[in-house]
Amino acid sequence: MHVPFLDLRVTDPAEKAALLSAVERVLDHGRLINGPEMETLETKVAESCGRRFAVGVGSGTVALYLALKGLGIGPGDEVITTSLSWIATANAIGLLGATPVFADIGDDLNIDPDSATRLVTSRTKAIVPVHYTGRICRMEAFEALCSEHKLLLVEDAAQSFGSRLNDRPAGNFGTVACFSMNSMKVFASCGEAGMILTDDAAMRERLVSLRYNGTVNRETCIEPSLNGRMETMQAAILLERLPLVPAIIQARQERAAWYDALLADVVDTPPATPGLFHSYYTYTIQADRRDELKAYLEERGVECKIQHPILMPDQPPYKSCRAETDNARRVQARILCIPANEKVRREQVEYVAQSIRSFYGS
Ligand SMILES: Cc1ncc(COP(=O)(O)O)c(C=O)c1O
Repeated sequence: MHVPFLDLRVTDPAEKAALLSAVERVLDHGRLINGPEMETLETKVAESCGRRFAVGVGSGTVALYLALKGLGIGPGDEVITTSLSWIATANAIGLLGATPVFADIGDDLNIDPDSATRLVTSRTKAIVPVHYTGRICRMEAFEALCSEHKLLLVEDAAQSFGSRLNDRPAGNFGTVACFSMNSMKVFASCGEAGMILTDDAAMRERLVSLRYNGTVNRETCIEPSLNGRMETMQAAILLERLPLVPAIIQARQERAAWYDALLADVVDTPPATPGLFHSYYTYTIQADRRDELKAYLEERGVECKIQHPILMPDQPPYKSCRAETDNARRVQARILCIPANEKVRREQVEYVAQSIRSFYGS
């Protein structure tokens, strides 16, 4: 049996027809950048996250970079983030001339508030927790830490659209929150896209300027920036897909529950967090002899991924940055994402689970 990790083809005929007509409408009105679909999408995403404003941008990386730039982060500043994330999180900080400082993670793969607290100095300006795999971080601890030390709180919610913690949606925490809507996400464009959320009208205005070369009135540049706008076609696709997100998450939660039941006695399945509504961007197990297990599964046609195989503080540009990584190092050698998206069928879940069990002789 072949079990792909992710199949990005649009296989549902009704969805395909809806996406094609959305793209056709954009081709017909011709406002290919910042078209009307973008504004509607911004309003709907802001609403769904309980925020006043959303600013559509070209990617999650651009969202993080512009959010931190908009908050005035720059040379001399330290920004505390997690050790385990896609490198975009550190790059957004590093590109601004600021210094990332990497906190350790807990067994839930999220940034450990105690480690972050130990790393605060007089140069710390912001904390960027990442809701890894879609699991929302212990935000009450970060809100308290940030208010105690007068720090900015920036949510890297790239992996967590649709997740909630005690009924607060991802994107609702922090001074500013950033989403990625690239094609691999739970709420996915057919390419690259991202979004920044805020409740501050002045910040929104600044972000709108920053996403278009730091210009106002389309021509006058008030500060250097880049072109980080979202394409209207992606906005139109996202608008079609937004109503599909609850069913996608429900299907992922179902697959996670199947795996939990089939695997809990042979590997560490994702731990339960009280109050968490988990979108399961990935279903990540922690397993002994992980690399051997991955090779074994791949021989049997099961595609798996290690997200991410290199800790951010081990990446060459960031090796000299301060970091606490004891648990991150231990955990990082054990993580494995197995296919658990909405397209994976029950018999495929059973096959993957059976393969894992047979690897451990169970
Ligand atoms: C945690 C995290 N931050 C930032 C990004 C960057 O988003 P993008 O790929 O849309 O630039 C990603 C992408 O997957 C991510 O997982």
